[in-house]
Amino acid sequence: MEDHVRNPSLTGARIVLGVTGSIAAYKAVTLLRALVREGAVIDVAMTRSATKFVTPLTFEVLSGRPVTADLFQAHQEMKHLSLPEHADAILVAPATANFLAKAALGLGDDLLSTMLLTGRCPLVCAPAMDGGMWSHPTVVAHVEALRARGALIVDPEEGPLASGRIGQGRMAGEDRILDAVRAVLTPKRDWQGQRILLSAGPTQEPIDPVRYLSNRSSGKMGYAIAEAARKRGAEVILVSGPTSLPAPSGVEVIPVETAEEMLKQLSNRLSWSTVVVMAAAVADFRPRQVAPQKLKKQGRRSATLELEQTTDILSTISGQRTTQLVIGFAAETHDLLPHARAKLASKGLDLIVANDVTRPKAGFGSDFNAATLIDRDGHTTDIPLKSKRELADDILDAVRRLLVDSPTRRHGDLRKRR
Ligand code: CTP
Repeated sequence: MEDHVRNPSLTGARIVLGVTGSIAAYKAVTLLRALVREGAVIDVAMTRSATKFVTPLTFEVLSGRPVTADLFQAHQEMKHLSLPEHADAILVAPATANFLAKAALGLGDDLLSTMLLTGRCPLVCAPAMDGGMWSHPTVVAHVEALRARGALIVDPEEGPLASGRIGQGRMAGEDRILDAVRAVLTPKRDWQGQRILLSAGPTQEPIDPVRYLSNRSSGKMGYAIAEAARKRGAEVILVSGPTSLPAPSGVEVIPVETAEEMLKQLSNRLSWSTVVVMAAAVADFRPRQVAPQKLKKQGRRSATLELEQTTDILSTISGQRTTQLVIGFAAETHDLLPHARAKLASKGLDLIVANDVTRPKAGFGSDFNAATLIDRDGHTTDIPLKSKRELADDILDAVRRLLVDSPTRRHGDLRKRR
């Protein structure tokens, strides 16, 4: 029997299949059949223009469920709320340039676009359009914005287009779309068996009982790595400077304030770990003396604070390690790569995540970041602006490759190689 699949890969998954007004809408019919064959329960939501290409009845018969196309009709049942609330993923295939624009901008003028605003589940889009449209700067910007927010965009393929031209615009093949849906529904467990010791957030170095020296770090990047690593099966201990972030679920958080406390807590747990990631923004200096009482102005117009250097935690940990991989960050405002390479070498790291903290929309406090990863062999990977949660997965992918490469390469060996 054609529809029989011995091991359906999407059993029980609830997916909203959004169909928008492209000639490729007819391909959504066979896509729907493939999704159903894989065991998924599909609710189809069509845009008005999609119904010009394929009738809702076709999808209704094949999905065995009512198809919704009209926000106002569907509103009585609050479908724009109930469908995404119960969905494990929203897949929009084909996704037109118009739909991508609405999704990127947050416009909600029909059922499907409104569902993106109410839903919190993963979004997969398979765009289909003429090649010239796909490469138009506006479409490129909208796709980039969606990716930055975590959407998985399955790039269209090269080939003859409905217009008769050749170009990149054909909706991706069924297998690539199914792989993308599986990827968002089945988190990788490739970090199982690894133990990550992670630092995040700023440190606070006291001046007196009411004042301290600190920096603008929000801790978001480190917390995103903790969450991603936990989801991928790692055990995670997070030594965190003061932040306003909730503890990621399943992660042991050890709160600290100063660089000295952070060093102590990390050193104590070093032998437990297999990977150390130093995402904290450690204060480089602290007041030489901490006043036991609040410092008073006492009529002075100016004051001088004498500072001393804090310990470089990363270099210390890197010197103490046995088999652990050690990953550092480089927060720079200029000459990003030369500074990052110098830190990679001087601190004896396996990988450094270099980021330009002056870049608009990225860095301290933002939910987004862009970075360049440089590994111990000099391989450099540029990661464009994306959510810190997505960047966390990219960093974990890169570290995972190093773990597979040389699980027990020692610090001494690393220094020799450079
Ligand atoms: N780091 C550390 N201990 C410190 C200072 C920094 O462990 N006292 C770590 C950071 O957590 C980061 C890396 O070292 O992973 C680089 O930090 P960064 O602030 O970019 O550079 P610094 O080493 O402080 O050097 P500089 O201030 O000259 O840029």
